[in-house]
Amino acid sequence: MGRVRITCWILLLQSLSVFAEDENDVIIQAPDVTPFGRWGRMENCSQGLFVTAFQVKVEGKHSIVDDTGLNGVRFYCGTPTTLEDEAGQSYLTWENVTSSVGLFGHWGHVNNCTTYAVGFDLEVQEPQGKYKDDIGASNLKVLCADGAQIEGYFNNGEGHKFHNVSYTGVQRCPTGYALCGIKTKVEIYQVLGDDTGLNNIAAKCCSLTDVIPIIAG
Ligand SMILES: *[C@@H]1O[C@H](CO)[C@@H](O)[C@H](O)[C@H]1NC(C)=O
Ligand SMILES: *[C@@H]1O[C@H](CO)[C@@H](O)[C@H](O)[C@H]1NC(C)=O
Ligand SMILES: *[C@@H]1O[C@H](CO)[C@@H](O)[C@H](O)[C@H]1NC(C)=O
Ligand SMILES: *[C@@H]1O[C@H](CO)[C@@H](O)[C@H](O)[C@H]1NC(C)=O
Repeated sequence: MGRVRITCWILLLQSLSVFAEDENDVIIQAPDVTPFGRWGRMENCSQGLFVTAFQVKVEGKHSIVDDTGLNGVRFYCGTPTTLEDEAGQSYLTWENVTSSVGLFGHWGHVNNCTTYAVGFDLEVQEPQGKYKDDIGASNLKVLCADGAQIEGYFNNGEGHKFHNVSYTGVQRCPTGYALCGIKTKVEIYQVLGDDTGLNNIAAKCCSLTDVIPIIAG
């Protein structure tokens, strides 16, 4: 009897916490390869908008002293074009979101999915050890719903690969979800120390079906 009552309480609390959660959002994150940096805030697309384009801020390989690689990621949020007519995506992109951004590098091209983004793959350099230059993350690929994978940095028309970097694996939203927010782990300026810029990314996935009534209405 007592056990049944406790089970009921647990079920009730679980269902309450589901309602208290922000809808059915899912967070995807790359593995933490480096110990550097602090997480910024999750910055979200407005309700009903999803990531359709992105831009990376990269400090190119310029020295043997202190490179930082990837410093920032900006997501552009719009209406997924597959849910619309063939109006073209440029005017459907309405806003941009960034979380923490490092001090170094410059913003490159805006890379567009012809559809919308459903995942990412972060390229990171393994920690290089004492007295060696660390850069943290070095590049980002975004996965589009049509299967395209767009690599941010090399699409900037620049293209030197950093050493000891590798892609950490595809992080993908569940089926029926698309990217709708970003959070970045960035190291603050080290003054005389070794700067790394951006070290990790987490993204929020929102359900596409939640939004169809909004688009239709
Ligand atoms: C973005 O959404 C998350 C919930 O998914 C929330 O915790 C966070 O506070 C939101 N960010 C901002 C800046 O409102
Ligand atoms: C992506 O779309 C934007 C807005 O329409 C445009 O300015 C930009 O040139 C496009 N990027 C590429 C790489 O085609
Ligand atoms: C991003 O959005 C802000 C408003 O939130 C705007 O002021 C800024 O110009 C936008 N940046 C780009 C690169 O589109
Ligand atoms: C890192 O790169 C350097 C030179 O590119 C190489 O000699 C070294 O073996 C690499 N380290 C690891 C752990 O792969």
